[in-house]
Amino acid sequence: MNNIKLAIFDLDGVITSTTKEHYKAWKLLFIKHFGIRLDPSLEVYTKGVSRIESFKVLLEKSKVNLDDPKLIECLANEKNEIYKELISEFDETKICPGVLDLLKYLKQNSIKIALGSASKNAPFLIRKLKLESYFDYIVNPEEKNSKPAPDIFLDALNHFGYKSSEAIAFEDAEAGIESIKNADIYAVGVGDEELKDADIKVKSLKELTPVSLEKIMRGN
Ligand code: BG6
Ligand code: MG
Repeated sequence: MNNIKLAIFDLDGVITSTTKEHYKAWKLLFIKHFGIRLDPSLEVYTKGVSRIESFKVLLEKSKVNLDDPKLIECLANEKNEIYKELISEFDETKICPGVLDLLKYLKQNSIKIALGSASKNAPFLIRKLKLESYFDYIVNPEEKNSKPAPDIFLDALNHFGYKSSEAIAFEDAEAGIESIKNADIYAVGVGDEELKDADIKVKSLKELTPVSLEKIMRGN
């Protein structure tokens, strides 16, 4: 791993699988307040996207007219309370396959590790998963432009003072891959989505062996 000094991880869908819980919380909120059953096909618009932006896109797609910012914030907070209840039992068993081996490998190779999640619940979840000791830095998504803007990944780079060519980042969502590419960082796409703009795509982080990782880092 010659030039790479920093690995930046998305959380939801990369380190742990919270996608179902996030969307279930939105579904419960929409049923309760608008009597609307959210279609599973809308879930993709919320992946990697901040809480408020996710809510706005779901409102728009469901043709609900809500333009009071205070009410939007209040309902988004309610969604978060439902979400927190749904993840209240999360522990180490919810870490995605391959994550621990990869984090250990990066540590052994003195590569810094950052969390670049849009989720304000990220520090809470990282504690529940007992992964705090691996992370050198957790980006605070507060007041940053939502993915696909590059802000979250640029913040991690700036924190360490590294160049974009010295980092690699892991994402499961289209908006996240776009965000990484907007920050000009090498993007590893993870999961079942097509993620056509990723520099490399794996179904699971389990696929990344030390040999394949070194190849990626060398650029071949
Ligand atoms: C992202 C999720 O990681 O975090 C999105 O993929 C979610 O679905 C976003 O909307 C914000 O999360 P939170 O926990 O701050 O509501
Ligand atoms: Mg994600």
